[in-house]
Amino acid sequence: MACTRCPLYETRHHVVFGVGPEHSEVMFIGEGPGEQEDLKGEPFVGRAGQFLDEMLYIIGLSRKNCYIANIVKCRPPGNRDPLNVERDACSDWLRSQIRLISPKLIVCLGRIAAMEFIDPEFRISRQHGSWVEIDGIWRTALYHPSALLRDPTKRPETFRDLISLKQMVLEHCPNTILEG
Ligand code: URA
Ligand code: SF4
Repeated sequence: MACTRCPLYETRHHVVFGVGPEHSEVMFIGEGPGEQEDLKGEPFVGRAGQFLDEMLYIIGLSRKNCYIANIVKCRPPGNRDPLNVERDACSDWLRSQIRLISPKLIVCLGRIAAMEFIDPEFRISRQHGSWVEIDGIWRTALYHPSALLRDPTKRPETFRDLISLKQMVLEHCPNTILEG
């Protein structure tokens, strides 16, 4: 894919499409690639990504039994928030991905994804960990792993959110074999 639908294509090294089995029942959605992701072409492979891997490990998930993608697929320069025009330009890609993968659960990582997939007014500090079913897909949001690296006091709440995610996987995802 060599998309040029928005100006982010000018500065990217790789389009970071997504990682994981194509029939995953659980789909994580972050914000956009950072420096390491842009260089390697895979989502969440930098410091935040290592922390995400640890979060997944706690509940038996990994890149082998869930899918990980981002709202925008090319790195915003300097890791700034993706602009509305960039999110809008990229949203067709993500919507096609969701149609193909057809996940049972969508887990938004941070506010930007939650605003797109749960509620435009989403308040992450109040609403993280709550579940809502929209169009047949159960959705929740966790604090973004970068936020958890910056502020460790948020980690206990996230641990509880992960336990609730595991419960939802056990209830709604019969084909997902949890590891460990
Ligand atoms: N942060 C994100 O939101 N996505 C990535 O892929 C990496 C860091
Ligand atoms: Fe295309 Fe999305 Fe990259 Fe913009 S961010 S160039 S819309 S793939």
